[in-house]
Amino acid sequence: MKRTTASPSANQTLSLLRSVGEQLEGGHGLIAVDKSGRILLATQEACRLLDLSGEGEGHTLAELGADFRLLRVITACRDAEAAVEREIASAREVIMVRAFPVQSQTIAVIVLVRDETRLRRLERVRRDFVTNVSHELRTPITAIRLLVETLQKGALEQPEVAAGFVHRIALEIGHMAQMVEELLELSTIESGRQTMKMEPVPVVELIRTVDRLLPLAEERLIEVTVDVDPATPPLLGDSRRLGQVLRNLVHNAIKFTPPEGRITVSARPLLEQSRVELVVRDTGIGIRPEDLPRIFERFWKADSSRQRDGEGSGLGLAIARHVVEAHGGSIRVVSEPRRGATFIVEMPAAPRQAAETEPG
Ligand SMILES: Nc1ncnc2c1ncn2[C@@H]1O[C@H](COP(=O)(O)OP(=O)(O)O)[C@@H](O)[C@H]1O
Ligand SMILES: [Mg+2]
Repeated sequence: MKRTTASPSANQTLSLLRSVGEQLEGGHGLIAVDKSGRILLATQEACRLLDLSGEGEGHTLAELGADFRLLRVITACRDAEAAVEREIASAREVIMVRAFPVQSQTIAVIVLVRDETRLRRLERVRRDFVTNVSHELRTPITAIRLLVETLQKGALEQPEVAAGFVHRIALEIGHMAQMVEELLELSTIESGRQTMKMEPVPVVELIRTVDRLLPLAEERLIEVTVDVDPATPPLLGDSRRLGQVLRNLVHNAIKFTPPEGRITVSARPLLEQSRVELVVRDTGIGIRPEDLPRIFERFWKADSSRQRDGEGSGLGLAIARHVVEAHGGSIRVVSEPRRGATFIVEMPAAPRQAAETEPG
């Protein structure tokens, strides 16, 4: 391999640059090229970020299959003798390259490479979040505005009609209140400020918190069965938050199961791992395979559920996952369209207390 010969001072500059390059943290890389585009120095990370094949040094960037956008940045920088920067975005990643001209006999251009993929993704998530919140709030607000306008235009004079409208206004306000509560819960969890009261929670008591949803199930002619293995030990966790998780799973099961369907809430010990498995199974509409990876995302709802106005914000499962994982547990789903859905939560069991030791 033919190496570019460099004067001692150039060698010193290069080795200085090399040690700078080695200090860079992950996601940052450095390249130095000569006038003809031959690589004098390329850090491993730079090669990885720019998909440069093989041992870079001694070859030209073009030989290594560099992206044409990178080649143009370097040429432009060299010719204009001015700094040039540009983003090299692909479907998977966003790489920022900044080229600086150098007044030296050997090095012509130094390029700093930075992976901005994560940053961009965060920016997008934040933008989407604001759009989603606005959209979700607009629907109930529009409904309330129309109902109030109709009341003002005379519906108030007809007590029966008016009562129905007021009832619907109350429902819409209920949806908004639920959503604001879920948003607050989510932001508390994400800020890491949430305080969890960890205590042993008897599983039967936890499952009892879904009792308040039974009238809703009954109204929809859905049968709810509870099946707890008597050997199930108490969980270790925050009973209020775990109750919320379980209620959301059962509420979903009710929402997405047609009349005459069945829901089973069950629990059993996974003794070897000192864990407990909680399962909520329904016989409802199920989830399409392509939707399965997305259902735990914030605001995500299947198209079929989007059409049901005011039925939910799509935050419940995102919160459920946060809460369960914050307890050192896991949540997953198994489902097929029209064959129901099964949500499986695995939680750590509470350590056995001295008071509970075996009799004898
Ligand atoms: N048991 C279920 N059966 C079918 N689809 C479900 C079930 N649970 C959740 N989903 C899908 O996942 C989406 C997200 O659920 P969730 O985060 O609780 O939001 P929400 O209940 O507010 O719609 C639902 O809108 C629905 O499309
Ligand atoms: Mg829900």
